[in-house]
Amino acid sequence: MTTTAVETYLSADDVRAALRADVVRGLTSSPKELPPKWFYDERGSQLFDEITRLPEYYPTRREREILAARAGEIAHASGAGVLVELGAGTAEKTRSILDAMRDLRSLERYVPFDVSEQTLRDTADAIAQEYPGIDVHGVVGDFDRHLGRIPVGGRRMVAFLGGTIGNFPPMTRRTFLAEIAAALRPGDSFLLGTDLVKDVTRLEAAYNDSQGVTAAFNLNVLTVINRELEADFDLEGFEHVARFDSENEWIEMLLRSKVDQTVHVSAIGLKAEFAAGEEMRTEVSAKFRRPFVEAELSDAGLEVAHWWTDDHGDFALSLSFPR
Ligand SMILES: C[S@@+](CC[C@H](N)C(=O)[O-])C[C@H]1O[C@@H](n2cnc3c(N)ncnc32)[C@H](O)[C@@H]1O
Repeated sequence: MTTTAVETYLSADDVRAALRADVVRGLTSSPKELPPKWFYDERGSQLFDEITRLPEYYPTRREREILAARAGEIAHASGAGVLVELGAGTAEKTRSILDAMRDLRSLERYVPFDVSEQTLRDTADAIAQEYPGIDVHGVVGDFDRHLGRIPVGGRRMVAFLGGTIGNFPPMTRRTFLAEIAAALRPGDSFLLGTDLVKDVTRLEAAYNDSQGVTAAFNLNVLTVINRELEADFDLEGFEHVARFDSENEWIEMLLRSKVDQTVHVSAIGLKAEFAAGEEMRTEVSAKFRRPFVEAELSDAGLEVAHWWTDDHGDFALSLSFPR
């Protein structure tokens, strides 16, 4: 029989307090900035899923190609019976790894970890139904605070797919990798998806799709703040901007104010002035090169044992072990 449990480290009050703190910090700093985790309410998670199916958005397709070709090797090399997935979302690609672990008869447990509670619950239920006999243990938590809560037990492979690692600023990324390394025990492994540096036109097209789905996803953060903190952002007053910063080798997504305007965030008594043309950053998405990934993992105490890319060299999966 399959068992399903969901542990929640984020109450509705915690989430609101964290959102308040981020909005105060973000709207009073110069330049203004909001962290990307607030995109992912239910609608944001659905929009992200739509993004992954867009013709311009190559990362998901390429990562899926690698998984289709290499899932058996990954399952074998990890030797894991437990798959922990950080930022699992709908775990759409994860099924290839679970299938491969099941084929090896090693699959015991799946642990999705995500900040978005409803998406996490839906994912946990779906996987429990599709993989009868395994234990599904969901964790609703924030990478910033709850990595130490990843359940122990069994030989674990911690997967972080989708290139989500690129959303962290460099210092946060280092802290994150060090915390992952500290959470791993001998024999555990870390499967990391990284989007690779490539032609700027293709990179920028992936975040400026012709159907406007990425724009809707970007603007959704304003809808979240309007709803949760009684703000009055006028979505028509902002436009989506995404461009490659070649110095930092990351895509940045921004919301640009079309006019001079004042936004009120009633729940925290905050008034924010936006000048026409002012840009507020909502996400970075770093692109990587192999030596850099290996060096950052190594600094965190992780040794890369395998490196797989798709046939076009667009995306990479690495499997590393604690030293
Ligand atoms: C870019 S999506 C990737 C989804 C999926 N892994 C994939 O590869 O398509 C990022 C996921 O991480 C989750 N997430 C974002 N920030 C988070 C945070 N601070 N803590 C926990 N989960 C977070 C989001 O809810 C979302 O499901």
